[in-house]
Formats: sequence, structure tokens, C-alpha cells
Amino acid sequence: MKQDRILVIGAGGQIGAVLTDALREVYQPDNVIASDLRDLGPQNGPVETLNALDPFALEEVVKKWKVNQIYHLAAILSATGEKDPMKAWDINMRSLFNVLEISRQRNLAKVYFPSSIAVFGREAAHLNTPQYEVLIPETVYGISKVAGENWANYYYRRYGVDVRSLRYPGIIGYQSMPGGGTTDYAVDIYHYAVQSKPYECFLSQDTSLPMLYMPDAIRATLELMEAPASRLSVRTSYNLAGMSFTPAEVAASIKKRMPNFKITYKPDFRQAIADSWPASIDDSAARHDWGWKPEFDLDAMTKDMLHHLELQYQAA
Ligand code: SER
Repeated sequence: MKQDRILVIGAGGQIGAVLTDALREVYQPDNVIASDLRDLGPQNGPVETLNALDPFALEEVVKKWKVNQIYHLAAILSATGEKDPMKAWDINMRSLFNVLEISRQRNLAKVYFPSSIAVFGREAAHLNTPQYEVLIPETVYGISKVAGENWANYYYRRYGVDVRSLRYPGIIGYQSMPGGGTTDYAVDIYHYAVQSKPYECFLSQDTSLPMLYMPDAIRATLELMEAPASRLSVRTSYNLAGMSFTPAEVAASIKKRMPNFKITYKPDFRQAIADSWPASIDDSAARHDWGWKPEFDLDAMTKDMLHHLELQYQAA
């Protein structure tokens, strides 16, 4: 059997960092190459400093390590993207094209490309948003993900590149920090709570958004990538759900364990982005096709987040 060699692009990011560790457990550390624009420092497996906008540099890395799978996690997220839309479009699309092209040219076995709830806009059903829904995103990030999903589907149908994708909701984890997203408050809030600091939330208290705890997000990704190709009916990107909550609800969940925690609300430009997104997601296609089932609800996540962050801050 051919040995899988996996390249993770964006391995220094919020999801990429945790996914790299998880892949190294499954495929052995030496078979998982962590790459990022910035120097990741020494790790327990191969590391490359790589700009995914440079197709020649990408090709070199793929050849050097005999890569046969790519997980392309690098992207500019929703809030940062709005500050320089052309730059966000350029980075998100050009890096994806480079990944799709090298995968086609070198006949790679599998490609993973994350999409997002940001593909939806106000015209989409707000509750239990279906898999096949009108996609009119209001952020450049969302536009790049809709386009990316369609290019993934195109490369699959036209060239047979086995590209797989999930529409991640907001992802919450203690291992790494998010950067530039609209759902980032749901990570920040736990860090403030553990440090006994009051938190000023940039979304209003009743803004409900779909969210997923990191262990579920990583397991979903690995399960999708392990599923037999014949099971996968969606080649754009699968809706994926875990839980939905508002800032007031996550604050209440924290207060059950930390009664003195204080939160205030000062919505900024990210409120309009959040308002354009669904409050909950119908992920029945993922459940049906490859058996997706989330494990963590809000209180289970709060318990685990606070436990791990307390250990981290004590050790610091
Ligand atoms: N967490 C992302 C963001 O807020 C959504 O994909 O941009």
C-alpha cells in the first residue's frame, strides 16, 4: 500500500495547528508536513515555511516530501477580509488554485479545503439552513468560499481530483487562537473568564450562531477524509453543525462554573456579518452520507474549555 504523505498548509492557524497534531497521530509524525507562511519552529515532524501563493514553492515542497494529500487551511477570514477585500480575494483564491492545480498535475490522492457558514447570506433560511440553499454571501470571505466550493466541485467532476470540504461553523478550542473571524468572541470569552477579567463582546447578546467544539471539528474532518468516495454525494461542501448559541448563553454557561464572570456588549462592524449568517444549520447530508454526529453541547464544551485553559494559565 502506498504510504500517505500529507501536507498541511496553514499549520500555524487555529484549526491547522490542532489538525496537524491529529494527523500525526493517525499517519505518524514523519508523514505529515506542517507548512505555514511564518516559521513554525521545531515540531515532532517535518516543517516547511511556505507561501501558498507561490506555485513553484508549493511544487517543490510536494516533490521533496512525495506528498499525496493536501489539507489547505490557509485563508483570510470574514472580519479581516472586509478590511482589504481585494487582498482577501487574491489570497484565498490564488492559494486554492495553486493547490487544485498541483493536485491535478501530480495526481494527488485527496485534497481537503474548508468552507464556512459564511457562504450563506440573508436570503438563506435563517434556521436549519439546508444543504442546497441560495448562496448570496455578504463578505468577501464568503464569496471566496462559494467560489472555492464550486471550483472544488469542478476539479472533482472535470479532472477527478478527490477534493472534500466542510462548511465549518465557528470553531472553539483551547489549543490555539483564532484570527480575524466573526465567531472569535466565543474563544476570547473563555480566556477572559479564566483570567477573571470582564469581557466586552463585539456581538449583541442575542446573536445566535452555529458553533462547533474543536475535537468535534477535527473528528469531522478526519471522518470525511476517511469516508469511501462512493459515500460522498456532496462535492461542493457539506453543511456541518454542532451547537448554536448566543453570547448571553455562553456567558450563562460560564457563570454556572464561575459565578463572578461579567460580560458587557458593544457590537461593532462584525455584528452585520453575524446578522447575515444562519443561526442554525441542517447537516443531515453529512449525517446520512458519512455518519456525522457531534459530541459536545455548550455546557460540555464550557467544562472542557475552562479545565484546559486553567491548566494553561497556571503553567504560564
Ligand atoms: N469562523 C469564521 C469567521 O468568523 C467562519 O468561518 O470568519
